[in-house]
Amino acid sequence: MPRRERRSVAAVEAVGPYTLLRLARGGLDPGVPGQFFMLEAPGRLLPRALSLCLAPPGELAFLIDAVGPGTQALCELTAGEEIHVFGPLGNGYRLDVDRPLLVGGGIGIAPLPYLAEALPGAPAVLGFRTAAHAEAAALLPGAEVCIDPTFVTELIDTGCDVLACGPEPMLRAVAALCPDAQLAWEAPMACGYGACYGCVVEIGGELKRLCVEGPVLVPLRQVHAGLSPAITRRAAASSVAPVALATSAPCVLASLGARDRETRQHSPKGHGAAA
Ligand code: FES
Repeated sequence: MPRRERRSVAAVEAVGPYTLLRLARGGLDPGVPGQFFMLEAPGRLLPRALSLCLAPPGELAFLIDAVGPGTQALCELTAGEEIHVFGPLGNGYRLDVDRPLLVGGGIGIAPLPYLAEALPGAPAVLGFRTAAHAEAAALLPGAEVCIDPTFVTELIDTGCDVLACGPEPMLRAVAALCPDAQLAWEAPMACGYGACYGCVVEIGGELKRLCVEGPVLVPLRQVHAGLSPAITRRAAASSVAPVALATSAPCVLASLGARDRETRQHSPKGHGAAA
């Protein structure tokens, strides 16, 4: 059940170029892997949506890429400071899979460590744009890692049940290889609970809020008839395979842990954003 609490910072750790922000859990439920929390970004009007990375006893940990003022403010927190945290929100990964394979790219690995705890023994393949970024693979011991110019999609066993999170070009490539993969998707989120309509997409003539009615995403081939021109244009604009919501199925939310919403950049391997 989502709750809003003021939580203190337990620790702030560098993980390669990323930051792992550890918060005292308090009464917050860590939720299902793939769900997200809205974290107050000090000095910023809007909170940041971050997927949960780890849930050790008494803590909630979030992997952050400081790509804009909001994420930078979060990374600059120090132990003992407090911020408001709200969650868990959205729908998590579907865990009833026979041959799970975790696939992550860049900061998109953020939800995978917690997911790996729920799917013990599941293999993972990770792609990063630099060796420095690949230091974050330490969060997923045993994962197979590649670095640009090798693509993580080259490591995927297409016979597996893929649960992926990463930059949009990576997701498009994963969808092409594994049409039934559970893919992350993202949208700008201001509230995270359905009030602001900032994350709305139009599907089949209906407006859907990704934060509450999704973000369950299925590949285009399964729902082609239901897609509206609006979501098709949106997907095309973001260079990711068009997807649609399936409200009855669990889903993955895009690597919210990494993105500020003001501006975005995408690189073939990274999970960049700015602001
Ligand atoms: Fe406000 Fe989805 S983020 S409605």
